[in-house]
Amino acid sequence: MSMTDVEIKKGLAGVTVDYTAVSKVNPETNSLLYRGYPVQELAATQSFEAVALLLWNGELPTREELREFEAFERSHRALDDAVRTTIDLLPLDAHPMDVVRTAVSVVGALAPAAEVADNSAASDLAKAKLLFAKIPAIVAYDQRRRRGEAIVDPRADLDYSRNFLWMTFGEEADEIVARAFAVSMVLYAEHSFNASTFTARVITSTTADLYSAVVGAIGALKGALHGGANEAVMHIFDEIGSAENVGPWLDTALAEKRKIMGFGHRVYKKGDSRVPTMKAALDTLVEHYDAHDLAALYDALEAKFVERKGIYPNLDYPSGPAYHLIGFDTPTFTPLFVAARITGWTAHIIEQAASN
Ligand code: COA
Repeated sequence: MSMTDVEIKKGLAGVTVDYTAVSKVNPETNSLLYRGYPVQELAATQSFEAVALLLWNGELPTREELREFEAFERSHRALDDAVRTTIDLLPLDAHPMDVVRTAVSVVGALAPAAEVADNSAASDLAKAKLLFAKIPAIVAYDQRRRRGEAIVDPRADLDYSRNFLWMTFGEEADEIVARAFAVSMVLYAEHSFNASTFTARVITSTTADLYSAVVGAIGALKGALHGGANEAVMHIFDEIGSAENVGPWLDTALAEKRKIMGFGHRVYKKGDSRVPTMKAALDTLVEHYDAHDLAALYDALEAKFVERKGIYPNLDYPSGPAYHLIGFDTPTFTPLFVAARITGWTAHIIEQAASN
């Protein structure tokens, strides 16, 4: 057979690898369903903890199931000594994605070997819940140590989002801020067969353990064409400076054939269904922090880029500036995506292991 007889599907474009019941992306109707529920509806009515249970179990939790999971999550939030010691060994200029990837690997290596090797759905679900509870402390501690700030212990009287912000900033978050952050977690939780989820499923298919699959997924998410785009949006904003510079900046960027981060999507070609919900959350933050210059730059770049290329923003476009306003350092944005996507990844890992 000559090389020309082989049809290569570059980037797996058009290749269908499997069905999934976890979520459904429909670019035609511009919708994203988690287990049959529209993501916008979930973001408006459910906590991130409830959405995690939905993704894992296939149904929204009863009050009792939610209460039980919340109690578990609240009692497993603290950073393990061994994880903290490992993070402390890493240089302060290590990328936070490298730190979270390493720390998750340590959590896995600390667990009893027989438990790690048990790929049953019950065992994997327990690991998923553990990582859900443990990742915020890793992300929060890493940002604090870079800033030379002392670790802040978790508080069991706060929900997931409020506690995450508490551990990061050492103060109780305003209601508007906590709400916007929780919305971002729900929107980032799951997105079908994207690159990092596919990576997790490939690793699971070898019968490797859940921790290994998650570590691989974190590696895939790091790239600027995937999760790293939310950080890249802030770098672009820093480069542009202010709304009036958008026109000349974009002319140069397009002439240089640069990719404009936060725009375009592998699946959505007419806009990302998550953007309006996250943009509404960003708008509340703009008011709260009186950040109208940032909002003007946001609007100007979107208008000009859509006019020039007809390519629409993806979720990273509003979430990058939202995380910036909340006070996260730019390199911490993608680890926040990890904290959210641990739910979707692990739901897919459990599904893959059940039908390998
Ligand atoms: N900036 C500039 N040009 C872009 C672009 C962007 N953000 N997104 C797509 N394009 C261009 C492509 O290069 C392609 O040009 P070509 O026909 O000259 O080769 C054309 O628009 C059509 O691209 P399309 O097929 O719609 O996108 P894709 O599937 O190849 O790529 C992404 C999808 C996400 C990788 C791409 O849009 C991208 O790199 N975006 C920026 C990174 C980002 O925000 N990632 C987060 C995704 S959730």
